[in-house]
Amino acid sequence: MSGNNIVWHSHSVDQRTRAKQKSQLPLVIWFTGLSASGKSTIADALEQILTHQGYHTYLLDGDNVRHGLCKDLKFSDQDRQENIRRVGEVAKLMADAGLITLAAFISPFRADRRLVRNMLPEGQFIEVFVDAPLTVCRERDPKGLYAKADRGEIKQFTGIDSPYEEPESPELHIHAGEATVTDAVNQLLAYLHETGVLHAGYEPIAV
Ligand code: ADX
Repeated sequence: MSGNNIVWHSHSVDQRTRAKQKSQLPLVIWFTGLSASGKSTIADALEQILTHQGYHTYLLDGDNVRHGLCKDLKFSDQDRQENIRRVGEVAKLMADAGLITLAAFISPFRADRRLVRNMLPEGQFIEVFVDAPLTVCRERDPKGLYAKADRGEIKQFTGIDSPYEEPESPELHIHAGEATVTDAVNQLLAYLHETGVLHAGYEPIAV
C-alpha cells in the first residue's frame, strides 16, 4: 500500500487478453521533432494505413491534447515536462487497452521521452525522430508560428528560444527534410514488419 492509502487493483482482463482479442501487439509509436517537422502528418498517414489494414489504433497529437487534457499547460520547460508526463500516462493506458498508439509531440527533452519509455513494458516504446532541419521547418511554417516567434509574439518557441534535445538512439530516424510522407510511412511500415508488429506482411504504399 502506498502512503496515501491508494491500493493498486490487478484486474482479470489484462493487456495480453485485450491485445489478443484485437490480434495485434500493442505499442506506442512516439514521434518527436520540431514544430512543422512533419510528425502529425506522418503519424496521420501511418494511422490511416494501419486502420485500413485492420489494426486498432489511436493517435494522440500535441495540438489536440492541448485543447483538453493539457489546456492548462503552456510552453515553459516545466509545463512541457508535465505535458509529456500526462500524455505518457495516457499512451500507457491506450497500449494497456491493446491499441497501437501513435503520439506526435515535440517532446523536446530527452529525460521526458525516457520517462515515457520507462513507463511502458520492454519493447513497447518506439521512438521516431522526425528530423527536419530548422531552416526547412521555418520555410514550411504552416501555422505562421515561426514568423510570430521571430517577431517576438511567441516566447519560448522550440528551436528559437527554447531547446530541442535530439534523440541519441531512436528506433527510427526519418530524414524529414528530404523524405516524402510516403517514404516516411514506408520506412515505418518496414520497421514494424521487421520487428513483428505487423503480422500479415504489408504492402508498401505508393502515391
Ligand atoms: S511539447 O513541447 O509540450 O511537446 P506539443 O507537441 O504539446 O509541445 O505542442 C506543440 C505545438 O504547439 C506546436 O506544433 C505548435 O503548433 C504549438 N505551439 C504554440 N506555442 C509554441 C511554442 N512556444 N513552442 C512550440 N510549439 C508551440
